[in-house]
Amino acid sequence: MRIYDPKQSENASAMHLSFAHLSDPHNPLTPNVKATQVLNKRLLGYLSWHRKRHLRHRPEVLTAMLEDIAAADLDHTIVAGDLTNIALPDEFAAARDWLKTVGPPQDVTVIPGNHDAYVRVPFAEGIGLWSPWMLGDDATDVTFPFVRKRGPVAFVMLSTSNPTPPLFASGTLGKAQLDRLEAVLDDLRGQDVFRVVVLHHPPEDYPTKRRKALRDRAAFRAVLARTGAELVLHGHQHHSHFGLISGPQGKIPVLGVPSASMALNSEKDDEARWNLINVRREDAGWRLSTHGRGLTPRGFETLGRWTLQVPLS
Ligand SMILES: [Fe+2]
Ligand SMILES: [Fe+2]
Repeated sequence: MRIYDPKQSENASAMHLSFAHLSDPHNPLTPNVKATQVLNKRLLGYLSWHRKRHLRHRPEVLTAMLEDIAAADLDHTIVAGDLTNIALPDEFAAARDWLKTVGPPQDVTVIPGNHDAYVRVPFAEGIGLWSPWMLGDDATDVTFPFVRKRGPVAFVMLSTSNPTPPLFASGTLGKAQLDRLEAVLDDLRGQDVFRVVVLHHPPEDYPTKRRKALRDRAAFRAVLARTGAELVLHGHQHHSHFGLISGPQGKIPVLGVPSASMALNSEKDDEARWNLINVRREDAGWRLSTHGRGLTPRGFETLGRWTLQVPLS
């Protein structure tokens, strides 16, 4: 199966890149959970998983999505957080094994989500297990933001993942990370690259529910209003989303994607979807095109597509 023109997909070059954007796989909760591990904030999430979430987040949907992505034969894959449910050490190990099925670390880039910081977990037992997929180019330690350049694209990867009180699913970037983000985006601005900023929480004033929002989203938007970026990607909402935020030369597209494991006919969340994104350098600027590949009763199909001309920074 070819979803797009094969002549445009061959040989990822300095002028072209195709990649997948998926998020919120919420891999199944691992068995053999000890009572002492859930006598904290995890208890609510543990009960929620066994009551209803296990019916909505289905491993067979996730498997079918990875098969659809593999068939598209792309250059790279972005996973935008929430690989786990209640941040148990066994879940981080299972998510690492799942990442191996997505692809090798040089071809797959990951950030954590709020569920991956459900409670505070030592780095080495938690997201540190995913380090090979979270290292910036030439880096030996995981720091945020980190940058990976692939063809004409620079992926700028952020973490909004911090432990929060029970019933909260909010995120925070923090001033130190925002300062580094501004320096990174400024530095990349003159390099003729297509800057894709990836974070788990949406950066716009949606959702309005404070308990789920990115707390310093206004500060994030202020950075991008100064430095610009060519595209922002996120997950977290379990809904498809297209929005625009302000940059120095006009609007910056923002793309959110539903959970990668969401079954059909789930009550409040969109069914599973991933975005196939093409970036191509043209004389006048960049051509950005996406296909939304959504779950249907017949499997994954293209449910929407659009193309934008994006000016050079
Ligand atoms: Fe999620
Ligand atoms: Fe989330």
